[in-house]
Amino acid sequence: MIIQGKDYRTVWMEGNLVKMINQPLLPHKFGIIELKDYNEVHDAIKTMVVRGAPAIGATAAYGIAQAVLQFKGSLMSELEAYLAEVNEKLSQARPTAQDLFDGINYVNKKIMNSDTVSEAKDRAATVAKDYADRSADACKKIGEYGNELINENDRILTHCNAGALATVDYGTALSPIRMAHYSGKRIFVFADETRPRSQGSRLTAFELVEENIPHAIIADNAAGYYMRKKEINICIVGADRVAANGDVANKIGTYEKAVLAHENNIPFYVAIPLSTIDLNSETGEDIPIEERDEEEVLYSYGWTRSGNFERIRTSPEKSRAKNPAFDVTPARYITGLITPNGIIMANKEEIAGLFE
Ligand code: MRU
Repeated sequence: MIIQGKDYRTVWMEGNLVKMINQPLLPHKFGIIELKDYNEVHDAIKTMVVRGAPAIGATAAYGIAQAVLQFKGSLMSELEAYLAEVNEKLSQARPTAQDLFDGINYVNKKIMNSDTVSEAKDRAATVAKDYADRSADACKKIGEYGNELINENDRILTHCNAGALATVDYGTALSPIRMAHYSGKRIFVFADETRPRSQGSRLTAFELVEENIPHAIIADNAAGYYMRKKEINICIVGADRVAANGDVANKIGTYEKAVLAHENNIPFYVAIPLSTIDLNSETGEDIPIEERDEEEVLYSYGWTRSGNFERIRTSPEKSRAKNPAFDVTPARYITGLITPNGIIMANKEEIAGLFE
């Protein structure tokens, strides 16, 4: 992605450091954060310095590579025991994004194929980079297929941030939008604000500004208004995990947008790489839903005019809050899944077909 005229990925590795765009600073400041070990990588995922399912997967892949490079032992059996600890720690960073587990599994399999620790060390960074490259390529293909669904003058609703910042590059839901814009189509994007973390108003809007894509941020509860007025004619969102039957877990609020789109006869697409599909979850009921700290709901935060980052309590001192981070949209509300292998129906047969 181009930021301030320079090409960036969301996460990468340089020497023994995992580097990433520091997302809580956006949109007001742009900064890179350097992580020194896998504990710092875990904390960055947990506290959402990096977020978005494919970006989390690539971050974990780099975290494991970094851990292997820092390993002090000399036996493969010791490396195996050490990696079990690293995997356990990273797996606990966030529960819903399937890509986290996909990234961990991919890198582990390739590294543990080595005969010696020094071979494992030689491979580690390349294997993680390979995972990140494949993830970025998959998102690019999602964009190419998804672009076919977008017509001149389309007005597109998206939820949360499923952009380049949520992936290694390009994005999932924002990738078709980028490609449509690059191919000269006039489009307009409605970016749901996406409380409580405001990924829509902070991150999606940031990406759209950087790319000069016409857009408006709307409050989360405004989508129905625009759908009924026929001002939105297609919805594209990302996903954190897709069950074998096509049910989709994505950022809280996705479900209600899908139901509203169905009610208003507006196509509702979910853009995903294969790393987001969990064949072990038969339906959405099997997907673990992350419950985050109530403070995210009780407070708002941002930059003041004087340039300070401040948290402001917007609710009574005595109120408590509930904060589920994701919800499940049943497959029947989904018009199609935009994948790197093409556009398919959100059902068991077509999802299984992706892995044949
Ligand atoms: O809590 P977040 O910001 O990690 O949630 C992100 C989303 O819900 C995205 O829509 C999803 O990860 C798809 S990202 C390409």
